[in-house]
Amino acid sequence: MNLLTKRPKGTQDILPEESYKWRFLENFLFKQASLYGFDEIRTPVFEHTELFSRSVGEGTDVVEKEMYTFNDKGNRSITLRPEGTAGTVRAVVENGIYNKGLPQKLSYLANCYRYEKPQAGRYREFNQFGLEMLGSDSSSADAEIIAVANSIFKKLSIEDIELQINSIGCKECREEYYKELKAYLESHKESLCPTCLNRLETRPMRVLDCKNPSCIDISKGAPNILDYLCEDCNNHFEMLKEYLSAYDIKYKINPRIVRGLDYYTRTVFEFTSNSIGAQGTICGGGRYNGLVSEIGGPEIQCVGFGIGIERLLLLLSSQEKMEINKDECDVYVGSMGEAGKKKAIEIAEKLRNNSFRVEVDISDKGIKAQMKFANKINAKYSMIIGDNEVSSGIIKLKNMKDGSEKEFSVIDGLLNYLN
Ligand code: HAM
Repeated sequence: MNLLTKRPKGTQDILPEESYKWRFLENFLFKQASLYGFDEIRTPVFEHTELFSRSVGEGTDVVEKEMYTFNDKGNRSITLRPEGTAGTVRAVVENGIYNKGLPQKLSYLANCYRYEKPQAGRYREFNQFGLEMLGSDSSSADAEIIAVANSIFKKLSIEDIELQINSIGCKECREEYYKELKAYLESHKESLCPTCLNRLETRPMRVLDCKNPSCIDISKGAPNILDYLCEDCNNHFEMLKEYLSAYDIKYKINPRIVRGLDYYTRTVFEFTSNSIGAQGTICGGGRYNGLVSEIGGPEIQCVGFGIGIERLLLLLSSQEKMEINKDECDVYVGSMGEAGKKKAIEIAEKLRNNSFRVEVDISDKGIKAQMKFANKINAKYSMIIGDNEVSSGIIKLKNMKDGSEKEFSVIDGLLNYLN
C-alpha cells in the first residue's frame, strides 16, 4: 500500500465542495451559542494523558481502548483529546476563569481523536462543537444548555430528531441503585455479552446502553434509576422537566441513557436521529458536578453538551436541508497584452478592496480560454482589458448570465453599479 497518498483510516479530507458547508455551520453554531451568552474558548489538541484518565474515567471505553497516547521527546505521556470537556475544565482551573464571576459560559470547536472502528458517522478524527456552563446547579442551567442545542436543530430545520433525557443521580442515590442493579444483572449473568460481564462490577449502568440484543432484553427488566433518586436529585429532575416545558421543548424520558463517560451526575441527555444509520446520536451531554474539583479546582457545578459536526452534516444532507451558497466569483477580469494584464490586476485589486471576489488570468491563457475559464468558475460578470481599454479608460462589463454589456469610464461608476 502506498502510504504517501493514503490518508490514515478514519480521517477525512474536506474538499472545497464541502468545506464551505463546514464554514457556514461553524459560524452559525458560534453565533447561535452567543445568543445565549456563550463565548469561545480554544484549548490544545493534546493534553497530559492523566487529565483524561481522571476525568473521562479509567476503565471507560474511551480511556481504555480509544485514546491516541504517546510519549513525547521529553518522555511525558501525551494524549490527543478524545473530547472537549476535560481540556476546557482544565483551562478553567489553570486560568482561574471562575474568579471572573459565575456562571461562565464557554463554547468551543474541537477536533477530537478516538481509535474506534470507522463507519458512517464514526471517525477516528472528528469535530465536536461543545458548550460548557460552569457555576450553576440549577435545573434552569441544564434546560438552557438543552435549549441551545434544540434551537440549533430547529433553526437548521432538522426534522426527525428526538431529545431523550434521564437523571443518573448523585453518588448517594447511585450507591443504593448499583446494589439493586448488580444483583439483578448477576441473576442474568449467563445472558450478558462478555463486555457487559466485565462491566458488571465497575460500571453496571453501561449494561443498559449495550447494543447486544440479549443485553437489551435483560436491561428491559432492570431496576430503573429514576426510582432510586434522592430527594434533591428527584426535585432537580422534576424542575428540569418544567423548565423544558417553559422552553416548549419536547422530550422523552429514557432511563437507559447513561452516557459512556464517567464524569456525569444527575441530568444526562442525547439528541438522536434515525436518518443517519447506526451512529444516530448527534448530540450528547449532561451535568458534571464533581469534575472541576476532581482535577484540583473548587467545587463548581457544570453542565454541557457536544455536537458531532460530521453527524450533523450527514443529517443535514440526508434531509436536504442545507441551503447554503458557496462563494463564487463576482468578476473575472480577463486581459490581452502586457499593458492590459497590468491594468486588469489594478482593476481587480480595486474591486477586491471593495470586497468583491475577483479573478484575473494567472496562466497566460488566450482570450478564448480565459472566457471559458470565467464560465467554468461561474463568474457573474466579466471584462476584458486590452490596449484599447488601457488607452481609452473605458471598460465593458459583461453580465455572464444574460450576455448584456454595460460601459464604464471610471472605476467608481463600475463599483457603484456592482454594489
Ligand atoms: P460524547 O457523547 O462522547 O460526549 O460525544 C459527543 C458527540 O460527539 C456525539 O454525540 C457524537 O455526535 C460525536 N462523536 C463522538 N464520537 C465520535 C466519532 N468517533 N466520530 C464522529 N462523531 C463522534 C462528549 O464527548 C462530552 N464531552 C459531551 C459533553 C460536553 N458533556 C458535557 N459537556
